Amino acid sequence: MAVLGIDLPRYEKIWLWFGVITLIIFLLVTGIMAFAMNLHPAAGHERTVAPEQVLSTAPFDKPGVYPVGDKEYQVVMVAQAFNFLPAAPTVPAGSTVHFRVTSPDVIHGVAIPGTNVNMMVLPGHVTEFTYTFKKPGEYLLLCNEYCGIGHQVMMAKMVVQ
Ligand code: CUA
Repeated sequence: MAVLGIDLPRYEKIWLWFGVITLIIFLLVTGIMAFAMNLHPAAGHERTVAPEQVLSTAPFDKPGVYPVGDKEYQVVMVAQAFNFLPAAPTVPAGSTVHFRVTSPDVIHGVAIPGTNVNMMVLPGHVTEFTYTFKKPGEYLLLCNEYCGIGHQVMMAKMVVQ
């Protein structure tokens, strides 16, 4: 019969190694999965533009509101230090808006409090999000990713008439 006090350290070593090996396997598997799944920034970032060419590349060379259907608009937006273009996109109430946003400099955000509009905008990555503005009003549109000295004043308004 093994005496507990003598054999326990050996078991502890075994368990310790078991733990270490399990951890290594876990890290390897997660690492391999991350590569295998080709992980990217969140969905909607598939298209890219060279950040330094954002302002000269269509459609971002002409930020604005473009009708694409009945009460359906595409808002092409540039989020840059420290403003948004256009500064006050305007659509009729009940419009479905397809935002397409990118940044020529650093990471910004687009959030419209009171809605579920909340986008992260990476330099050169095109972020897309669709939202239907049912109620008329002026919606605050702000940057919610810290982007530098002017971050807290980086805002625009979404006008729904
Ligand atoms: Cu742009 Cu914070």
